[in-house]
Amino acid sequence: MWRTGLAFGGDYNPEQWDAQTWREDDELMRQARVNLVAVGVFSWALLEPEEGTFDFKWLDETLERLHENGVDVALATPTASPPPWFSLAHPEALPVNADGVRLTHGSRDTYCAASPAYRRAAARIAEVLAERYGHHPALALWHIHNEYGTWCWCDAAAAAFRRWLRNRYGEGPDGLAALNAAWGTAFWSQHYTSWEQIRPPRATQYLHNPSQSLDFRRFWSDELLAAYREQRDAIRRYCPDVPATTNMMLPSDYQPVDLWSFGREVDVVAINHYIWVSGVDGDADTAFSADRARSFGGGRPWLLAEQAGGTITLDSRRVVKEPGRILRSSLAHIAHGADGAMFFQWRASKAGAEMWHTGMVPHAGADTRIFRETTETGVALEKIAEVAGSVISADVAILMDSDAWWALDHPILPSPDFNYLREVKRAHRALWDANVSCDIAHPEQDLSRYRLLLAPSLYLVSDAGAANLRRYVESGGVLLVQYFSGIVDEHNQVRTGGYPGAFRDVLGIRVEEFHPLTPDVGVRLSDGATGRAWSEHIHPEGCAVIATYAEGLLSGKPAITRHDFGAGAGWYVSTNLDNESYKAVVTRLLDEADVRPELAGLPPGVEAVRRCADDGRSWLFLLNNTDDDVAVNAAGRDLLTETTIARATPLCLKAGAAAVLQEPATDSGQRKAGALDGD
Ligand code: GAL
Ligand code: ZN
Repeated sequence: MWRTGLAFGGDYNPEQWDAQTWREDDELMRQARVNLVAVGVFSWALLEPEEGTFDFKWLDETLERLHENGVDVALATPTASPPPWFSLAHPEALPVNADGVRLTHGSRDTYCAASPAYRRAAARIAEVLAERYGHHPALALWHIHNEYGTWCWCDAAAAAFRRWLRNRYGEGPDGLAALNAAWGTAFWSQHYTSWEQIRPPRATQYLHNPSQSLDFRRFWSDELLAAYREQRDAIRRYCPDVPATTNMMLPSDYQPVDLWSFGREVDVVAINHYIWVSGVDGDADTAFSADRARSFGGGRPWLLAEQAGGTITLDSRRVVKEPGRILRSSLAHIAHGADGAMFFQWRASKAGAEMWHTGMVPHAGADTRIFRETTETGVALEKIAEVAGSVISADVAILMDSDAWWALDHPILPSPDFNYLREVKRAHRALWDANVSCDIAHPEQDLSRYRLLLAPSLYLVSDAGAANLRRYVESGGVLLVQYFSGIVDEHNQVRTGGYPGAFRDVLGIRVEEFHPLTPDVGVRLSDGATGRAWSEHIHPEGCAVIATYAEGLLSGKPAITRHDFGAGAGWYVSTNLDNESYKAVVTRLLDEADVRPELAGLPPGVEAVRRCADDGRSWLFLLNNTDDDVAVNAAGRDLLTETTIARATPLCLKAGAAAVLQEPATDSGQRKAGALDGD
């Protein structure tokens, strides 16, 4: 994807330093094998000190210096941080929160993405940069903006929301009638008689209309995407051949933008990933984010645009990366399909709001563990550069949809215990623990390549998604639907006639009533499993009952079911199973769908992921995320240690260490399931 195999580097902000430090940067970048840096991410005030007046001297010199040093540039558009002059000249472009408070400049992201003045200024600086640097020999990538994901509820946002709604529901009275129907405005006297009456869901007396809230989130995501596209298109006019991306944020508890739609518009997916939990949980989270990133780009190689060398500003959990973690985490992202591992940032700042965020070069300088491990990582990436461009092939996917997440992220539900991301991550963790590679898939995409699909908390599913999943099972797929899925349609309205309306035929069930459980009460199942938080009164309609509730109001009634449907099977789990019981269900389904681990027999916390090239070459990444040394039965040439591992001798993988085995040429189809073991 880039000239240089796997990308290695970070955000580079030389404007915060002096010439002597630049010379040291050059030297240290060579030492650490840095080959790509993101420049100018927050440099708007320097590049355009007054409206329409540009000063490129510093950037010209920086690009020249980097180029001479053999370092490519991901040139950023600096639009995530408008300069003070901009906010003073365009106070209406400052963001307004849901309570109606207008924010002021002095941090970053103090703009409203729907503000025409902001959008014009952002597209202009992007265009000016493209005109000047579009053919610069150092330029490898456009890094547009930084982490799209801020909000606004101002009047400009309201006007744009109304435009978006007119486009969605149609102009004129028919469109308005369609909106009234879609939002269920007959409830609480919310009927609109003109478009002008419609507002974003600002602070109000009690609960918001859930359909309106969902549409506002869809709209806002589209608005941010439109802002991205404007910049990208402005750049393309001058520079059509250099790929463009934006570094997407995958925060742990909410999702401001629909990453699927961003994935379709970027030339290469780039994400940021920070570890917020220590130990193996952090490694599982790394794999989850990486699998999401790969999936948003349809499986194409992607870029880890940011990770941390150590601690992070505002890190309430105080996660210190233990020795070896910088390398292992970087390799984990690459194992899961990244073609590069970058950091925020090259050199830790000594001033400013993020002066306590570690850099590849810490405050203490190059004579530090972090810089030594950074260098070790750069050297390792050079050694495994041949994996660039290869991909992962998964037989299992977890369904994930922003609409389902957004609809579930609203306080109108029959229990406060729903948490979309927690459920999706739990599904991923069950597969990760089993060393089964998985994609994250959208319910409406082509699913025919998968043997098994897991649908955790797919509360909302569109008619198209439901039909797609029905086809999938009919033609032989195995689908696990988890409790409170398939409940509402794309307008966030209940599918009536029995839950889960979207999947009743596939699952062969009809749910009559929900029985939410209070946190202190669990429920036992006939097979020894336990459930929490939730249970449902199911009537079988053709399904087999796998387990029943063993106590309480639903005693003796189905809890877990399985239904033969067409050539496939639809499974249903109606409660929030404890982790072990959930894993047992997933294991049974992997078996039914004949899905094998990448490598059989690995101890928990030891990860195996395989990347394959078009020409039949493949690489097995082995990551020991545990504190113990382990022996692994695998063969190939370890590109990191440059030694050949024979089949007869197990590979000794030290605690926290990793290996990247270039595998002997065999039919790649036979590799899964430990086909290499013992032969
Ligand atoms: C990212 C952001 C960076 C920096 C980093 C460290 O989310 O893109 O600019 O803030 O976090 O916290
Ligand atoms: Zn606004």
